[in-house]
Amino acid sequence: MNTSLQFTLNGVGIKLANAKDQDGHDRTLLDVLRNELGLKATRLGCGQGQCGACTVLQDSKAILACEVWMSDLTGANITTLEGLNHHGVPHALQAAFIDQQAAQCGFCTSGLIMRSAALLQQHEKPTRAQIEDALKDNLCRCGVHERVIQAVLLASGQGSGLSKHLSTSAPPAPNNNSF
Ligand code: FES
Ligand code: FES
Repeated sequence: MNTSLQFTLNGVGIKLANAKDQDGHDRTLLDVLRNELGLKATRLGCGQGQCGACTVLQDSKAILACEVWMSDLTGANITTLEGLNHHGVPHALQAAFIDQQAAQCGFCTSGLIMRSAALLQQHEKPTRAQIEDALKDNLCRCGVHERVIQAVLLASGQGSGLSKHLSTSAPPAPNNNSF
């Protein structure tokens, strides 16, 4: 049975020969991205929709690639971290995450950036509360939450970021592994 399908990935039309695996099971978007197309920025964390490491965009909406079946993506428009830059120029979020050093091990970073990109599509200048709410389901075991928040603020043209924050006498916010 022919289970090929076409979708758009990072602005390029993709024809996938088989939306099912060799056992006839539907494949996830995450499987196809990482294991067939070689796009490794989208991470496999829990694989069960619990950690946010696999967050990508469908149109401007954040989705979890580990939970999306390829058979539901015919004609879809998907963007991964690899497609967020513009002709090699980093997206404002990518630049801000680097500027703020908003990563430690970096495992969660791709998902956080993609979730933040969806947020900025909704709110050009999100409040701190909106950022915290948007990112609350993206887990970070290293506890870089404050730097991530500062990076999103910076990317949206608000404030001058964490370096200014740290130069004051105020201590950084405590980390509790959640936003
Ligand atoms: S790998 Fe998809 S939510 Fe954790
Ligand atoms: S930077 Fe290590 S899990 Fe977030």
